[in-house]
Amino acid sequence: MEIGRYDAARDAEAVQRIWREVGWIDAERAGIVSRYFECGDAWVFRLHDEAECAVHTTPGAMRHGTEDLELAAVTAVTTSRVARKLGAAGRLTARALAAQAAAGAEVSALGMFEQGFYDRVGFGSGAYEHYFTFDPASLNVDRGFRPPRRLTQADWADVHACMLRRRRGHGGCTLAPPRVVECEMAWTDDAFGLGYRDAADGGLSHFVWGEAPGEHGPYEINWVGYESVDQLMELLALIRGLGDQVSSVAMLEPPDIQLQDLLKQPFRHRRNSERGKFANRHETMAHWQLRILDVPKCLAKTRLPGPELRFNLELTDPVTEYLDGDNEWPGAGGDYVVTLGEDSSAERGSSPGLPTLHASVGAFSRMWCGVRGATVLSATADLRGDGVLLRALDEKIRLPQPKLGWDF
Ligand SMILES: CC(C)(COP(=O)(O)OP(=O)(O)OC[C@H]1O[C@@H](n2cnc3c(N)ncnc32)[C@H](O)[C@@H]1OP(=O)(O)O)[C@@H](O)C(=O)NCCC(=O)NCCS
Repeated sequence: MEIGRYDAARDAEAVQRIWREVGWIDAERAGIVSRYFECGDAWVFRLHDEAECAVHTTPGAMRHGTEDLELAAVTAVTTSRVARKLGAAGRLTARALAAQAAAGAEVSALGMFEQGFYDRVGFGSGAYEHYFTFDPASLNVDRGFRPPRRLTQADWADVHACMLRRRRGHGGCTLAPPRVVECEMAWTDDAFGLGYRDAADGGLSHFVWGEAPGEHGPYEINWVGYESVDQLMELLALIRGLGDQVSSVAMLEPPDIQLQDLLKQPFRHRRNSERGKFANRHETMAHWQLRILDVPKCLAKTRLPGPELRFNLELTDPVTEYLDGDNEWPGAGGDYVVTLGEDSSAERGSSPGLPTLHASVGAFSRMWCGVRGATVLSATADLRGDGVLLRALDEKIRLPQPKLGWDF
């Protein structure tokens, strides 16, 4: 058994085979996996000299308040049928995180297949996201729309540029390599895309991209990009316009609105369509996770108004158990003196006289990002301190719920 960097000449076919075995790609499009692995960084676990587990990370940015942090998104973790339960995925994810942290990444995020698995390498659950399936004709958007431009896979560079320029709030993420978008677009089934070119340079300003199976749907929108809420409204009016033909459209709630506000009689539609092919739904789940990779760098970019709050932090990082010991990054655990304020900081060490917060990196990351407050986390996650400190943290960290706005 051996862990090493992905080497296209040696591993490309084996990695395609893994993706086919886990059902992520069909034989005709397996080549896209190799293009995808050329973006970002990738590690493989070889058994009998063949890659049987692969982890792919993609560099990007994640917004905290008004600041952008360097993101290492974990964009694919897969183990073939022959290498399950050997600890390959856990060890390889830890290895990939170490490489990214050593290269300067400050925070990591991922879409999870299930809760619990990535906690073991230090991740904690992000905010709830709302996933709606609705009748587009029931959209109550009080405006018209112009005829859009048709988008195809050939527009990947424009789509990527729009995703980088798009309106982003707290938690909003971007992935840097444009080719990641090319690959994602290439493996969209029954792809459709519509957009407008109102950007200052004539590029795409707002768009939707997704899957349009069959005559009546259900359509699924995978990406929405826009620079202003007015542009989002035009996109929703455009979706409403599809309602003469399409019976249902599914999408994640765009970060800037409460989508239910724009649905006519949402409860009635849900009741009346229950169990049907075009069932209207509103599902909520925390399907992504995050973790801090570098505490001092993340805290240096944390701006919280009001008086400063100082405390000792004793941080544990379970990723250490998955690292081989010879990595360039030992995890984020250790003792810090943390200051939260307009100019926040974290310095190694401890200061006598300050209260102490004990936390795992996953729980601390959730608190720092505003997913849940310290008092709540002390009841449900690995975080503890005295009640006065916990309440002071609840008061200090008042952030909007983080929303990625990019499903990876
Ligand atoms: C998920 C996947 C990558 C795991 O691969 P793997 O190499 O077998 O994983 P590891 O050996 O590192 O870890 C397996 C362990 O995690 C545990 N585990 C699995 N799900 C868990 C969960 N939700 N919570 C806690 N532990 C979990 C397993 O019980 C197992 O423990 P054991 O060895 O004590 O029995 C693999 O099942 C896979 O490729 N699935 C399909 C693709 C996929 O969904 N990828 C993840 C995308 S986010």
